[in-house]
Amino acid sequence: MLRVLMVYFSGTGITRFFASLIQEEMEKRGYICDNLNLEEVVDLPTLWQKNPVALNYTIRAERKRPLGKYPWPYQSLSSAMHSVKENPNLSGLREKWQDYDLIGFGSPVYGFRPAPVMIRFLLDLPVFRKKTRAFSFATHDGAQGDFEVFMRKLLKLKGFKYVGHIDHSFIYSATAIMRSNFNHLKTGRLLAKKAFKARKNIFVFLEYIHSLYYGIPYAYKGTNLLDKLVGIPYRLFYSYGIDFILNHLLFGFGLHTDECIRCMTCIQQCPQGLIELDDDDYPVRHYHCMYCLRCLNWCPTNALYFSNLTKNKARFPGPEVLLEAAMQDSIDERLKKD
Ligand SMILES: Cc1cc2nc3c(=O)[nH]c(=O)nc-3n(C[C@H](O)[C@H](O)[C@H](O)COP(=O)(O)O)c2cc1C
Ligand code: SF4
Ligand code: SF4
Repeated sequence: MLRVLMVYFSGTGITRFFASLIQEEMEKRGYICDNLNLEEVVDLPTLWQKNPVALNYTIRAERKRPLGKYPWPYQSLSSAMHSVKENPNLSGLREKWQDYDLIGFGSPVYGFRPAPVMIRFLLDLPVFRKKTRAFSFATHDGAQGDFEVFMRKLLKLKGFKYVGHIDHSFIYSATAIMRSNFNHLKTGRLLAKKAFKARKNIFVFLEYIHSLYYGIPYAYKGTNLLDKLVGIPYRLFYSYGIDFILNHLLFGFGLHTDECIRCMTCIQQCPQGLIELDDDDYPVRHYHCMYCLRCLNWCPTNALYFSNLTKNKARFPGPEVLLEAAMQDSIDERLKKD
């Protein structure tokens, strides 16, 4: 019986949802599959802050518009990749995870790369000398860029035998925070449709995984050249688009103080641990972040915003709420017909 572990980071909940679909499909095949949010494995803010690594969009934003009262703290991804060291606090994971036949690492795509907190975690892992098999998985909005290449590099660096990658494009969860109106029912229906397609993808991927252990394995090829070429214009557009949105429209950290109930949810939710209390006990952020959007989405009163574009706008409620809306609607329709 195959024992699989999946470890993921998720901002708005889509990667968590994808991980649960993969887990369900694995369990249907009789695999034992443990699914862990990265925050259950490590204290993420402490891990990331000890050696913060940032993607280019954060670095550019900080250069153009330093937020802070503190000095520039981040290391770029390329220099982080050149100074890989095992973190002694994580060395126990090698023994803890030694009974798994396969380990999957998943993250949303941020600026064509894995989320910085996932990168930090992978760089800090001990080297897995027994050539444990590993795969990567991702969710995105259609342009995953070099995500797979980076995951392959990182996992090989840590001694894993990299066996493949699976990704899926779901719904534009990140743009909800810029819309005046976010239709739960419509988006819930779309998510259900996408989940159906995702299951088909997962089926094909698991056929391949199954062949590695029980059949005639075939070599994993990765993204083919044609896909890469077709993706170039989209990538350019996405790359400049994301940079523009993040650096000109999203940057900053604003608060409607009259609406803030000082519940600390934003502080507890920040995976980078960047939100603190100011002298009046209101949340404040002194650095640019990776924009995972959790603080905005889970603030119960919508008191937080990043810029005027996100002021008093909709928030993303998470995949479960959307699916619930779609399910309730189809029950209501059926009852009406009956
Ligand atoms: C800061 C940021 C950067 C993003 N960059 C990309 C990107 O480069 N390509 C892409 O296709 N989607 C991009 N997205 C969209 C996310 O990958 C997508 O919404 C993902 O499903 C979110 O997963 P999560 O809910 O697990 O956080 C980005 C989203 C954010 C918030
Ligand atoms: S989550 Fe919202 S209400 Fe709660 S402390 Fe943060 S800003 Fe204030
Ligand atoms: S400040 Fe908000 S958007 Fe930025 S990393 Fe923290 S929770 Fe995510």
